[in-house]
Amino acid sequence: MKKVGVAILGLGVVGGGTYKILTDNKEYFKSTQNLDITVESVLELNKERALSLGVPESAIASSIAEVVSNPNVDIVVEVIGGVKVARDFVLQAISSGKSVVTSNKELVAKYCHELEAAAKKMNVGLYFEASCVGGVPIIRTLIDGMQANKITVLKGIVNGTTNYILTKMSQDGADYQDVLKEAQKLGYAEANPTADVEGFDSTYKLSILSSLAFNKKVTIDNIHREGITGITKEDIAYAKKSGFAIKLLAIAKNGPQGIEVRVNPTLVPLSNPLATVNDSFNAVFLTGDSVDDIMLYGRGAGALPTGSAIVSDVIYAAKHAGDYYYAPFKNSDTAEKTTKFVTDFSSKYFIRMRLKNIVGVLSKLTSVFSKNGINLTYVKQNAMEEGVVELILITDISSESSINKSIEKIKTFDEVNSVESVLRVED
Ligand code: HSE
Repeated sequence: MKKVGVAILGLGVVGGGTYKILTDNKEYFKSTQNLDITVESVLELNKERALSLGVPESAIASSIAEVVSNPNVDIVVEVIGGVKVARDFVLQAISSGKSVVTSNKELVAKYCHELEAAAKKMNVGLYFEASCVGGVPIIRTLIDGMQANKITVLKGIVNGTTNYILTKMSQDGADYQDVLKEAQKLGYAEANPTADVEGFDSTYKLSILSSLAFNKKVTIDNIHREGITGITKEDIAYAKKSGFAIKLLAIAKNGPQGIEVRVNPTLVPLSNPLATVNDSFNAVFLTGDSVDDIMLYGRGAGALPTGSAIVSDVIYAAKHAGDYYYAPFKNSDTAEKTTKFVTDFSSKYFIRMRLKNIVGVLSKLTSVFSKNGINLTYVKQNAMEEGVVELILITDISSESSINKSIEKIKTFDEVNSVESVLRVED
């Protein structure tokens, strides 16, 4: 039986979950994987926390140098988060001949090229299943399950915090700020929620996933990003009345015009399975030219789900020692010059505005849309307070530039009180 020594850098939520799986299932991994995996070392400043999880005092290291110089450690698990220290520790582990498993999406999205180059040079592994969509094996699916396919579409809900917030806003008819506060109290959202609610977290994940799906480097700078902070309970209520849920989608498409990559709040028809992915759950749709559509669904965060992804990488690295996977595309920090990116996105749009309830206003508006080549497929008018109507429009597939041009023009009309929202619709 092969003996495998593991070190865990950071025993926070995910590190604790990883330690628990590795120790609780030690005998199970012996019998199912023929691997005898031992946590040889942990690096955790809070010694009490490590002891409370059952880590023997002798395994608690006091420095990264102590961890990487330990000859019994084969694989280093990085779960400390952040970029500066994590990058330094990962590079030290690699240069000491250790394979690395990380859950750090920001680190992988920003520095994968550097870390992979170092890993290749040392002939060690670099694995990051846990960096995207928590316990859902999306990376292994892309690398090991979808090789027969040219993938044309990858889209899904890859951030649990924003999905929890949007679900609660929809279920309770509550305001964004109130739900955010509740989510922070419950520990779903961080005290500083920016990375999640402004879409950065989804952007890091989309950079990693789309690069692997399309075998081309897609950097975070190539991705259009919008968060959910501008979504109101009214948007959600009107979307629902029109047959849609609002979700923060990460979307990557590879078509004849080039690669389109964006993270934005999107109206999804209630009949689409993504509309039923609620709370902190994640789901990703993939379309391949051979397999057609597949969908993966599960918990995108949490101690044991993310620990599950990390341990699967530990096992994979142990079993593939000396024959590690590296991304097949030229792994640089920029996209290749030959890669074309679509920036004028085509999509259906949901537009909500408030108008003065006077003769001719509708025809004035529709003529702007028709002049810009935009076909309206849904028009609904609701009476508001005296003399004001709320107008909901859904367009056929239109370019963003023609939508923007129309909205700019419409905003100049005296009859238009306000344009409340312009959101993309994905079928
Ligand atoms: N903040 C992330 C989320 C955690 O809400 O999905 C998992 O990456």
